[in-house]
Amino acid sequence: MTEVVPEVLISEEKIRKRIGELAARISTDYADVDDLIMVGILKGSFIFLADLSRAVTIPRSVDFMALSTYGASESTETDGAVRMIMDLRRNITGKHVLVVEDIVDTGHTLSYLLRNLAARQPASLKTCVLVEKPERREVFTQIDYLGFSIPDVWVVGCGLDWAERFRTLPFIGVVHPGR
Ligand code: PRP
Repeated sequence: MTEVVPEVLISEEKIRKRIGELAARISTDYADVDDLIMVGILKGSFIFLADLSRAVTIPRSVDFMALSTYGASESTETDGAVRMIMDLRRNITGKHVLVVEDIVDTGHTLSYLLRNLAARQPASLKTCVLVEKPERREVFTQIDYLGFSIPDVWVVGCGLDWAERFRTLPFIGVVHPGR
């Protein structure tokens, strides 16, 4: 079997700079908020959330949810293809919530999440996404803060995996498993 070696798509330096820019915008936009809850969606968001939450300069706390999607062949059916495995610890009613995701692909996961969280009546609900693939979108999803738009390639690193590999790479790389 040939070894899979990711090629750099977005360098560590570019990612650090972009996260700094996003954090600055978020810090300005939430300047009057005394407790922003940054919600990371496991597993993929753990590195982006760690970097982003340390770069913002306003009072903030973190919480987590874990979701699971079914196989690719089923993912186009309905939002029922998304399932919650672990819920937030905190009650978010009346709180300002920022969902932090590593990637938006078809959009089903974020769409499900936003409906689920909106039903809890937070004071505000926004999203921050490291990368999105516009060509793959099947449902509209609100992205308030976006790191990078990328083509339809398999990306790894910064929390993104290929069969659980490469999540901790400091850059975003492309893998070509079939080669
Ligand atoms: C990834 C990513 C998003 C979702 C986006 O999670 O973290 O949650 O897919 O895909 P969508 O826009 O097509 O719904 P994944 O299911 O790979 O789990 P992981 O975060 O544990 O790797």
